[in-house]
Amino acid sequence: MNQKITKDNPYKICFVCLGNICRSPTAEGVFQHLVNERDLKSYFYIDSAGTSAYHIGEPANSKSQWVANQEGVKLHSKARRFEKADLEEFNLILAMDHENLSNIKHLNGNPEYSDKIKLLREFDPQPDDKSVPDPYYGGMQGFNNVFQIVHRSCANLLEELEKRIVEN
Ligand code: 4NP
Repeated sequence: MNQKITKDNPYKICFVCLGNICRSPTAEGVFQHLVNERDLKSYFYIDSAGTSAYHIGEPANSKSQWVANQEGVKLHSKARRFEKADLEEFNLILAMDHENLSNIKHLNGNPEYSDKIKLLREFDPQPDDKSVPDPYYGGMQGFNNVFQIVHRSCANLLEELEKRIVEN
């Protein structure tokens, strides 16, 4: 978590929820948008995944896409399942809720990787219970709420990570 970030060694983040169609695609899209806005594209590799196989291959939920588009954020995800290999591949694995976190931790057999598995809302200045609430079975308000939480958390996370960027 404290390594320097360079163009030769981009920082890899994977956002993880249950279905990989609502919360984690929103986080992936928002973080990528913030990175692009700051012209930091070559310093980061951003992805998302789900702990379940329910929606493999699907694009982001239409309500998630609508809310993101209103804010100028495009969601380009195609749902995939989080795999054990992702624990090695990524520098930071950010779960949307406590259940996602527990599922990722169960998959992890390597104590060296424990420090890189966190809740996204650890980076939220107003973290509440540290969960991004699952919006799937609810109305638009839940999707708007997800966007606000995710945007606030991602902006704060990027501010922290920017301090570690060094030129090659
Ligand atoms: P996500 O939302 O984990 O934010 O992508 C969900 C998507 C699908 C289901 C649950 C949550 N589902 O039960 O199918």
